[in-house]
Amino acid sequence: MSTIGIFPASGGLGTSTYTHLLKAVPASNVVLISRHPEKTPQIYKDQGVHLRQASYEASPAELEAAFQGINTLFLISYPSHVHEYRTGLHIPALDAAHRAGVKHVFYSSLAFALPDKSTTLAEVMGAHLDTEAHLRKLAEQDPSFSWTSIREGLYHESFPIYTAFLDLKDESTTEILIPHDGSGPGISWA
Ligand SMILES: NC(=O)c1ccc[n+]([C@@H]2O[C@H](COP(=O)([O-])OP(=O)(O)OC[C@H]3O[C@@H](n4cnc5c(N)ncnc54)[C@H](OP(=O)(O)O)[C@@H]3O)[C@@H](O)[C@H]2O)c1
Repeated sequence: MSTIGIFPASGGLGTSTYTHLLKAVPASNVVLISRHPEKTPQIYKDQGVHLRQASYEASPAELEAAFQGINTLFLISYPSHVHEYRTGLHIPALDAAHRAGVKHVFYSSLAFALPDKSTTLAEVMGAHLDTEAHLRKLAEQDPSFSWTSIREGLYHESFPIYTAFLDLKDESTTEILIPHDGSGPGISWA
């Protein structure tokens, strides 16, 4: 069975993914890479999941070492809206994964691109498009490499942003104003 890696594995999306994955594949085939692997809950350490340390800001050689032996990598985007900084971390991580021999990358992208699929009006989507373009380039250069971009909808926990920062605990709020007449395509929640 191939080895599946997740980086970074410790956040909300990473943890949800590996807790689900470990119900389906042996822990010995799963590599969790994070800045603080010692914080991984004991229950998963006991199952024999592999733990490795790396940060997005690690050197190319350190990232390559962290990805060694992994066939399929879930690369979770760096948690920031800052386009250039985020792109600048994703591309070296992808290059390191490719050099390490990773054959397929799943990437956590976002569904904020215009219909031509390569342009966006949303700052937060910029690094995702750059990252997808780099994945496309790697696959064009190396036919043994493939990728899947998961263009996720809005996480439903973000709903306050779209409901005028409604605070469910604030009972004084009686009205919320949403700048949308309801006739559009709507919001795809994840
Ligand atoms: N589609 C949407 O609506 C939506 C909503 C929210 C977030 N997102 C995006 O989805 C991705 C994951 O979100 P999430 O909710 O899982 O985020 P999260 O729970 O805040 O987790 C962030 C993860 O990033 C790691 N991290 C932070 N800085 C790092 C670094 N320098 N090197 C390596 N790892 C680093 C954290 O590791 P530590 O444990 O070491 O801190 C943690 O594993 C992010 O890119 C986020 O922007 C999308």
